[in-house]
Amino acid sequence: MWKEIKAAPADAILGLTEAFKKDPNPEKVNLGVGVYKDDQGLTPILKCIKTAEKKLVETETTKGYLPISGNPAYAAQVQKMLFGADSEVIASGRAATIHSPGGTGALRVGADLLKEVSPNATLWVSTPTWANHKGIFSAAGFKIADYPYYSPSTKKVDFDGMIGALENVPAGDIVLLHVCCHNPTGVDLSDEQWGKVVETAKAKGWTPFLDFAYQGFGESIEADRAAVEKFAAVGIDFLVASSFSKNFGLYNERTGALTVVSPTAEEAEVAMSHVKIAIRVNYSNPPAHGGLAALTVLEDPALYDQWIGEVAEMRVRIKEMRAALVDGLAARGVEQDFSFIKEQCGMFSFSGLSNEIVEWLKVNKAIYIVGGGRINVAGLTSENIDYVCDSIAEALNR
Ligand code: LMR
Repeated sequence: MWKEIKAAPADAILGLTEAFKKDPNPEKVNLGVGVYKDDQGLTPILKCIKTAEKKLVETETTKGYLPISGNPAYAAQVQKMLFGADSEVIASGRAATIHSPGGTGALRVGADLLKEVSPNATLWVSTPTWANHKGIFSAAGFKIADYPYYSPSTKKVDFDGMIGALENVPAGDIVLLHVCCHNPTGVDLSDEQWGKVVETAKAKGWTPFLDFAYQGFGESIEADRAAVEKFAAVGIDFLVASSFSKNFGLYNERTGALTVVSPTAEEAEVAMSHVKIAIRVNYSNPPAHGGLAALTVLEDPALYDQWIGEVAEMRVRIKEMRAALVDGLAARGVEQDFSFIKEQCGMFSFSGLSNEIVEWLKVNKAIYIVGGGRINVAGLTSENIDYVCDSIAEALNR
């Protein structure tokens, strides 16, 4: 069956981890996949999650199937995180939330759902965007188009280009937007810019699909959801794919959610009936453990406070590493100004390193960076920072 078939290329992000694992160089550094690491280079299980898991071992009584949409208590907590506990969206019941296998699962279920109701729509993504967005929506059968987002010359959002493009997106098309900590650039819209995007969505009638994988890694759980609240306030249809992979460190538990927000509760109920079909034919119902662990933390005030502290610790460490990288490169006499990296937010830095440099660093220094120059800043530690700065300086000064 496979004789005539050429091998497919490795995944742009997860494929790097496979190559990294095989690399025998003892100095190797993985700055590829977006996974948090502490200063020891480990991806820890959060303390609040450990406590929650111990509690679950004592109290869990069954491994029976969850409903197709997951545990309703989990969905309720997800909605509180997305909209705030006192949100009108929650009180009016006009959001339908399902527990998905991670943020990727949420995007795919949302894509299948939208293909069902808007079969001829085009999906618009930012230039650049997360490497898997196009793959997920193409696999669901969508045509893909791009809108401008990042300006390599200013190292900021090209907002005029972006809004100009969004004003011309036809009604009924779908526009994928990153709520915070844009992946891969680390450059976000201002409050005012979000206001204009929301107005445009409402005026032009396209459907926003919000990818919200890094809540808490920007400023705080509350501040990071400001754009979601703005979309909710104007009463239009939109979708949110959210994830607890990063902010709860539940990467391998596949713990995410898809939320469909509609103008009325009746419409949300119809949407939910179709979401359930998209899930049933895909994976039937979600895995329970990660959702139960997150739910246990979110429902317990003491664990919740501990979690907020642990998210802040991750956020602060990443910020410190941004500064260490910028200062380390400057101290080595690198002429290029990298200070913009301090202004970026979230896990990633769009470093401006060319693909040629990225390749050189991999081959010569065993430093793994995603093509396009995206660095996972959380992969930097006080132990590897000098090696990384020396290597980048050497690569640039060749
Ligand atoms: C990333 O962008 O590195 C993460 O979202 C992990 C992934 O699945 O690609």
